[in-house]
Amino acid sequence: MKVIVTGGCGFVGAHLVRRLLADEHQVMVVDNFMNAGPERLPSHPALIVREIDIRDGNALSQAFGAFRPECVFHLAAIHFIPYCNAHPTETLDVNVAGTQRVLEAARLTKASRVIAVSTAAVYPPYNAACPETLPQGPVDVYGYSKWLTEAILERHSQGGDITAIAVRLFNVYGPGETNPHVIPHIMEQLHQGDAINLGSLSSQRDYIYTADVVAGFMSLLAADLANPYLVVNLGTGEAHSVQDILDTLSDILGRPVRAQSKEQFMRKADRPLLLADRRKILALTGWEPVYTLREGLSGLLIEEGLLEG
Ligand SMILES: NC(=O)c1ccc[n+]([C@@H]2O[C@H](COP(=O)([O-])OP(=O)(O)OC[C@H]3O[C@@H](n4cnc5c(N)ncnc54)[C@H](O)[C@@H]3O)[C@@H](O)[C@H]2O)c1
Repeated sequence: MKVIVTGGCGFVGAHLVRRLLADEHQVMVVDNFMNAGPERLPSHPALIVREIDIRDGNALSQAFGAFRPECVFHLAAIHFIPYCNAHPTETLDVNVAGTQRVLEAARLTKASRVIAVSTAAVYPPYNAACPETLPQGPVDVYGYSKWLTEAILERHSQGGDITAIAVRLFNVYGPGETNPHVIPHIMEQLHQGDAINLGSLSSQRDYIYTADVVAGFMSLLAADLANPYLVVNLGTGEAHSVQDILDTLSDILGRPVRAQSKEQFMRKADRPLLLADRRKILALTGWEPVYTLREGLSGLLIEEGLLEG
């Protein structure tokens, strides 16, 4: 199948592109290299990489027109929350207007499926696992931008010629992360020693390993869908605190990894819990996560050269 991946040079995108190539799809990556460049992707005869900003409708239409994708994975976005808060106009421009342009190009070139990555940040603060039926209630500009992304997807699916899936992704971790989220922040400090400075140690998140994310995406690429528009969570259904991560790392490494909570790393608005209800994707595609937190962190430590494989 011919597949376009926007944001394909990024953290999640590069893992997805590798899997698509391994499964013998033809892939075009569209990325403006803002956060990651083509050096993150393999040289492969079935891979084309185009430097395009998704806000540039003409360049998108030309690239899509030349390639004629059957499916588009739309991942290009600005998503590091402190950056989004500091740059709200740019965030809305890329995440909302950019999505509109990607959908226009996809429809023009008759792609039949668009799988766009949304986020758990569209949910309101909630003290249990979030089902897809929970009314949205984002608390920051990033969450609002993805809420609007979902609305654009739904509107474009109403024409009847495109199937759109909004994937509410939870907290991804794994090799090659581009943004300074908590796990890469811990890894960076582990290279210096075992005393780590962090923000909140108690907030709980649904951490999902890259290989599980990619398997979830592939299950959605293959799924038979009854409706033209679908919203689905992609998370493990298990919540872990930052302290749980540190305890698991200590256990794997066989020595204590100690952390101090520092004011400078605290986020102004930090939800105590963000957890996926994953029953919908299980019923739809049979997808289930394979990696435990311990297995995922072990894989990451090996990639980082902090643990022998
Ligand atoms: N990483 C996570 O934990 C997580 C969680 C939930 C949702 N998501 C979503 O998953 C997607 C991928 O996230 P990621 O972690 O790989 O981020 P990333 O920053 O590594 O990847 C985003 C990619 O998009 C590109 N990009 C940014 N602006 C662009 C523009 N205007 N035009 C073209 N390309 C542009 C960047 O260069 C980068 O390669 C994003 O949509 C993000 O919102 C990620």
